[in-house]
Amino acid sequence: MPARKTPDDALDAIAARIRATVDADPPGFPHYADADTGAWTTTPDGFWTGGYWNAMLWLGGAVFDDAGMVAEARRWTERLRPRIGSESVFRGFLFYYGAALGAILHRDEDARDLALAASGRLAGDFDPRLGLIPLGAEAEEAHTVGASEANIDGLAAVPLLLFAAQSGGEPVLRDRALAHTLRSAALCVRDDGSVVQSVSLDPETGAPLRTYTHKGVSDSSTWTRAQAWAMQFLGHAGRLLPEETAPMDAALRVTDWWIDNVPNDRVAYWDFDAPIDHETRKDTSGTAIAATAILKLSETVADPDAAARYRAFAEETLLTLAACHLTPVAPRDRRPPGILTNGCFDQRSGVALANELIWGSYYLLEGLAMLAGRLESGRI
Ligand code: GLY
Repeated sequence: MPARKTPDDALDAIAARIRATVDADPPGFPHYADADTGAWTTTPDGFWTGGYWNAMLWLGGAVFDDAGMVAEARRWTERLRPRIGSESVFRGFLFYYGAALGAILHRDEDARDLALAASGRLAGDFDPRLGLIPLGAEAEEAHTVGASEANIDGLAAVPLLLFAAQSGGEPVLRDRALAHTLRSAALCVRDDGSVVQSVSLDPETGAPLRTYTHKGVSDSSTWTRAQAWAMQFLGHAGRLLPEETAPMDAALRVTDWWIDNVPNDRVAYWDFDAPIDHETRKDTSGTAIAATAILKLSETVADPDAAARYRAFAEETLLTLAACHLTPVAPRDRRPPGILTNGCFDQRSGVALANELIWGSYYLLEGLAMLAGRLESGRI
């Protein structure tokens, strides 16, 4: 195993990576990168992933005390404005990470207004017959399915709606965030705490018709990012809605399932049910989402023994990602520093199977910043 890195060593590499990306002046939002050269594949409108680039800049600006990153964050956040009305539940990814973080970390008023505008439109997509906000016609996966589908990834709506609710928004924002959380968990979290990605609902009655996957190995498997997104956003709902017990109970169940099932090296394969041989891909991005969720959970649970156990697990996972999968600041390594290698975007479509994925890099930054004491846990 490569030498253990401290959180600060790894953060130095990530800061270098953010600055190199700024200097490269990409034509669109960084989406995934070649893990050897660092060259980014970009999206013109931010897809569902672009907000994570803004988030790296907003968070990097705070963690590295770098005004240049904050100025860049402002510029990229403005580029999300045309997406306010996109018919996609994944606007939660775009506008919580891509805009609300600017308000939370830097009191940026323009970013706040953009996040609030997007949250109002997103809340308007709540379908009372389905009991949640469906995927929406412009969501990544929606081209293959109908109008009454839900994904566990759609829980990304929750942080944006709760941000707006807690920023003076109407009570309906909080109510819809809670309803969306509980309905998504009821549909996608199995009895054993594992998570299925997707569900089709009857458009008239909302009754579940089938569960399935867009990106997992099979409809009955546990795709790694389904589990990780559930951990991240159920934990977020549990933290911000402490008066409700159900979101935190669900967060604990999906987290405990991850801890019981992840491989011994702490880094998940792309699907927990993928046949394992020497070619099976890891997904460092799903692992970074999960590790950061566990770290935040460790600061939320009341039981000190559980808190210590979660913290140790999260720390071990984040430091393993840093030691084994993050390119170092080292003159003898030809690769640019700060690339989180071995992210698996979409195995079924054969896209970006062992790459840097922008959201994986973001969650590694968030987790390491908390470990290093440079970001108050639960602030984001
Ligand atoms: N649709 C979100 C993801 O691919 O993780």
